[in-house]
Amino acid sequence: MLSQQELKQQAATAALDIVDQVAGPDVVIGVGTGSTADLFIDGLARFKDRLRGTVASSERSAARLAALGIPVLDLNDVERMPVYIDGADEIDPRLHMIKGGGGAQTREKIVASVADRFICIADESKLVERLGAFPLPVEVIPMARAAVARKLQALGGKPVLRAGFVTDNGNVILDVAGLNITDAPALEMHINNLPGVVTCGLFTQPGADIALLATQQGIRRLQRP
Ligand code: A5P
Repeated sequence: MLSQQELKQQAATAALDIVDQVAGPDVVIGVGTGSTADLFIDGLARFKDRLRGTVASSERSAARLAALGIPVLDLNDVERMPVYIDGADEIDPRLHMIKGGGGAQTREKIVASVADRFICIADESKLVERLGAFPLPVEVIPMARAAVARKLQALGGKPVLRAGFVTDNGNVILDVAGLNITDAPALEMHINNLPGVVTCGLFTQPGADIALLATQQGIRRLQRP
């Protein structure tokens, strides 16, 4: 029986196979954040001479990439990326996701928006029928914390300020439990439109293009319907 760590490694390795297919001297890879993305970064070191570089979705991933000698580029200097590789906290069969367990969802969404394909790598425990058991992370500008929390409460959620945490953009995170997510795209739009919200952790517009989910029987590949 493979451990969760071994399953994450399997998913990261499957994503590295995709890098192997797309690698080239002008190619830039979008890199996510989290423990599964960390394993992907470690494996990416062997491709560093076959790539132009990477764009990282967090200071944490940028530091890990740089420590391995993998070039990290400013997104403003990059027009195209064939793939963005990242984990998820939850993913459903439509490949909608909840992300932001590491508080990096804003930069993740920005980098992913420039990539041709979002490849989600995760162990199968992240696959759920319906999103929402994982509290939804919402990045908020500090002065709007209480006002946004009241609006999220009015939606049926129970927002909790993530203690002692500041995002890479200098903001705070409200983790919102108890939301009844029946229409994830509508909820994503609604929360993102609340004044003071920077980005909520729903990724539905679009979600991932491909999910590589590691199971005890090997990689299960899901494609966006
Ligand atoms: C980071 O902010 C998140 O969006 C991560 O992608 C997510 O939390 C998955 O992380 P793990 O790979 O550590 O489960």
